[in-house]
Amino acid sequence: MARRRRLKTSELEHFIHMSKHKYKTQRKALKGLFREDSFRIEPNVKMADRSIFKYWKNRMSLFSQMQCKDLYMTRELWYSVTPETVAKFAARFIKSCLPEAQVILDVYCGGGGNTIQLAQYFPKVYGVDNSLEHLYCTYRNAQAYNVEDRIWLKYGDWPTLSRKRRFEKLKIDCVFSSPPWGGPQYLKSQVYDLEAALLPQGLRETLEGFLRVSANVVLFLPRNSDLGQIAQVTRELLGDKAYCKVL
Ligand SMILES: C[S@@+](CC[C@H](N)C(=O)[O-])C[C@H]1O[C@@H](n2cnc3c(N)ncnc32)[C@H](O)[C@@H]1O
Repeated sequence: MARRRRLKTSELEHFIHMSKHKYKTQRKALKGLFREDSFRIEPNVKMADRSIFKYWKNRMSLFSQMQCKDLYMTRELWYSVTPETVAKFAARFIKSCLPEAQVILDVYCGGGGNTIQLAQYFPKVYGVDNSLEHLYCTYRNAQAYNVEDRIWLKYGDWPTLSRKRRFEKLKIDCVFSSPPWGGPQYLKSQVYDLEAALLPQGLRETLEGFLRVSANVVLFLPRNSDLGQIAQVTRELLGDKAYCKVL
């Protein structure tokens, strides 16, 4: 049953710029999502959508709190969210490389799989996504993990925000990103072409934009990614002595 409730002012503050007049339509939509308690998972109600069923079966690996807390997922998020152990590993890896880091930017934050784990280790995490529904899910999922006060969400198209040089003055210590891989069919080819298949920008443009925000960049990419492309782009953008670690 939907648990109707209003979006509180203190919650709206975590959606950057959303109280501005320019975002009137999005604000209204966001209020509607909170009011209707949209996208809440009933963990014990079997997923009717056959194409999502295999992800639903493994729901506890996506969010370990699924059984005891309210979690929120759109259809797309079922196959997009980074599983919790993987997200935790990435967050701990960044913490071990940058123990003094304070501010992390998660570009393409989706349903918050990574944002939430990053917020367990760092005091301030920005999340960016062009889906208002996904930003809403990130916030609600962060509430389940009690880290909602550490996250700040920006609605928008990343290439546009990047072109407008947003985030460049925010003293971001590290950019993390799990960009869209083009859906589950990414495994169909033996080698994943990071220039042609990665969305919404190829590897070079993605890295160029991120490196303008921070010298530390962590990407979550398909396991069949073309490592030669990573080596080449890293050298071209950062010089022959550039250091790039693949885990
Ligand atoms: C692979 S999912 C990220 C999953 C996320 N790391 C998580 O664990 O929940 C990619 C996200 O990128 C968002 N996205 C796609 N194109 C975008 C764009 N042009 N600008 C901003 N976000 C975009 C999608 O809405 C989706 O939520």
